[in-house]
Amino acid sequence: MPIIFTFPNNEKPSIAKKLNLSPGSFTIKKFPDKETLITIETDVKDKEIIILCGLDDPDSKIMPLMFFTQTAKELGAKHITLIAPYLGYLRQDKRFNEGEAVTSKIFAKLLSSLVDKIITFDPHLHRYKTLDEVYTIPTTVLHSTDAIAEWIKKNVENPLIVGPDEESTQWAEAIKMPFIISTKKRSGDKEVEITLPDVSAYKDHTPVLVDDIISTARTMIETVKKLLEANMKPPICIGIHGIFAQDAYEKLQESGAAQIVTTNSISHETNQIDLTTELKKYLV
Ligand code: R5P
Repeated sequence: MPIIFTFPNNEKPSIAKKLNLSPGSFTIKKFPDKETLITIETDVKDKEIIILCGLDDPDSKIMPLMFFTQTAKELGAKHITLIAPYLGYLRQDKRFNEGEAVTSKIFAKLLSSLVDKIITFDPHLHRYKTLDEVYTIPTTVLHSTDAIAEWIKKNVENPLIVGPDEESTQWAEAIKMPFIISTKKRSGDKEVEITLPDVSAYKDHTPVLVDDIISTARTMIETVKKLLEANMKPPICIGIHGIFAQDAYEKLQESGAAQIVTTNSISHETNQIDLTTELKKYLV
């Protein structure tokens, strides 16, 4: 049976506990000068290990992950799988402006050198069609859309799925309910313009916004605004990966959204959709 090592801030979604794998023990010490020391306390020699580490706030996690994986290999670990329910650094999938780094490629190259396999949920694949375009190790992409559809069936009467932008079509379609897709123009981190299609036929529906990432929440906020201006019912906002950067959560709460719901890919008080069942189906 593989040993699972759960990185800090990944305990709360309780995915690791529900997976019933043998838990491994390790410590991360921060020195006063902010350098990091990893100590792996469980014997990993000849063992398959799984690391549970979501890659939101990826810069703070990549060094501990690197120290951990290199040490595990030195100590004889046979195979290392990383479960990153959220895999960051995928949105910079081209050089949008002269001189910019294509961080998705650089990050993927680094991560591919650290672990043998990655399992993740609904990565932001837009210009890349699959993770294989940037990752050189096996990757498994799991989907949250069945769990989201289940939640909607239980909680929403007469739903209309609203994808805020072109990229969200993949999730809106997979939920298999009536849907519309808006268009989005982004001119800055917090500057987003949304144009809705004609919604006049859907006045008796409850709009359910579904997007993969809620970061600044401006995409959701502007879509909520436009739906309310079009006299639609107060929308429910569902984010697969709720990052909620800076004031995002407060602003989204103030926007007029009826409810804000996320999966437990990233721990947050809005987590209502559990991804463990999907993960278990795959791991068993
Ligand atoms: C990008 O196209 C993604 O699918 C999301 O729409 C985006 O990351 C949301 O970002 P924010 O919450 O900052 O508007």
